Order: sequence, then structure tokens, then C-alpha cells
Amino acid sequence: MAAVTNTFENVKAIVLSAHKCTTTGEKVNFYNSWAENYDQDVAVLDYRAPSLAANSINSYFSGDREEAVVLDVACGTGLVAKQMKRHGFGHFVGIDGSEAMLELARESGLYQDLKQSMLGEGPLPVQWGLFDVVVIVGALCVGNVPVGVVRELCKSTKPGGYICMTTRSNLENVEYKAALERELKQMEDDGLWTCVEVAEVEDWERALSEQEDGYISGAVYLYKKLQL
Ligand SMILES: C[S@@+](CC[C@H](N)C(=O)[O-])C[C@H]1O[C@@H](n2cnc3c(N)ncnc32)[C@H](O)[C@@H]1O
Repeated sequence: MAAVTNTFENVKAIVLSAHKCTTTGEKVNFYNSWAENYDQDVAVLDYRAPSLAANSINSYFSGDREEAVVLDVACGTGLVAKQMKRHGFGHFVGIDGSEAMLELARESGLYQDLKQSMLGEGPLPVQWGLFDVVVIVGALCVGNVPVGVVRELCKSTKPGGYICMTTRSNLENVEYKAALERELKQMEDDGLWTCVEVAEVEDWERALSEQEDGYISGAVYLYKKLQL
């Protein structure tokens, strides 16, 4: 039987309830409880970040997509892999902190390997320099994945490979976004990668806070790891 679609007000209440989570453990518990309805609830929010990130990678990646290995960090239920598969990518490894999200990613049949790991609490559980593309969507934001994790994303990428990241530009995420952009720039100054594209997108997803209405904006960042 088809699941009943949630109303916007219900989804808003669910997402805003996550603001009460003060520890990463509580946040992961929130995602565990949301996993089953996640795909249909984010559709109610017009959440387009996975397709926007996949489009950005599609515009610049010139290698063999069938051979390329993609690391999907904070993969959730697998929405990013689903979008990238439409562009011809076929090999995915996923990492997420939430077992319930990983279970749905497993059921999607898109991933060759899935690993449970809390980002920011230790090194990424992957081999350095292995991946043709590393992507993180919907998780680089306040209260989720710490900014410092972007260095690990770069370490996981093959020289010449791409790293695609997204963040929100709404009021609650202003400080996080500024810190993220400082880190991205610092890594460019350190000679680790070069910026390929930054796309600011106005209609990112529907606004949820009392101070904003309509749609919030967001950004897609695409970097290329420098050859050593
Ligand atoms: C908004 S969902 C995005 C999922 C997917 N990338 C997408 O775009 O649909 C955020 C995901 O990040 C994971 N996450 C958030 N903070 C995390 C952390 N510190 N460590 C590991 N996973 C985390 C959650 O479990 C959740 O699956």
C-alpha cells in the first residue's frame, strides 16, 4: 500500500524538532526515527540538493562513469546515488551515522559498500586517494557534520578527482557557511584543491523557520583535487 504523503506543516514540525538535539548521538537518533518517511517528506520540501549536486558533477566529470568509484558521504537513504546513476555513474560506496538510513540505502541496491560512521569523531573509514568523486549533500550544515571533515573528503579523493559539497544559505546556517567557505579557501591556498564551480541557488528548498518564507537559498561547491 502506498504511504500517505505528509503535509508541509507536519514535515516542518518534524524537521524543527531536530533543533532540540544537542549531541550528535541525539541527531543520529533523530535520523533513525525519520528514515522511513525521509524520501517522501523531503519531496514535500522540494528538496533538490541531490539533483543539483549530481548536475554539477555531470557538467565537469570527463572520465569513464561506469568505472568511476563514488564516495557518498552522509548518504542517507541514497538520493544522491539515485541522481548520479541517471548520469551514468554505477559504483557507489556510502557512509552515514544512522543505521536506519543505511538500511534504506542498502535496500536501494545502489551501493557496493555501506559503512556506519560518525563524521567528525574520527577519520573517514575509507582508503585515502581511492575515489574518483566524493560527494556530501544535505549534511554540511549547523548541528550536523563539522566543517573540518572537508579535509577528509579531499584526502579520500584521487588526485584529479572531484569533491562536490552543498550547504544552505538560510539565517540559522550563516555562521556555518562562512566557516565552511573559509576552510574551502584555506585548502585552496594550501595547494590541496582548486575551485571548479560555486553555484548559489535561490530556490534550494522550502523555508521552515518563522523568520523566512517561500524558499531558502543554498550553494553547490565543486572542487578538483590537485595532482601531487
Ligand atoms: C539531510 S540527510 C541527507 C542525506 C542525503 N545525502 C540526501 O541528500 O538525501 C543528512 C544525513 O547526514 C547524516 N549525518 C548527519 N550528521 C552526521 C554525522 N555527524 N555523522 C554521520 N552522519 C551524519 C544523517 O544520518 C543523515 O542521513
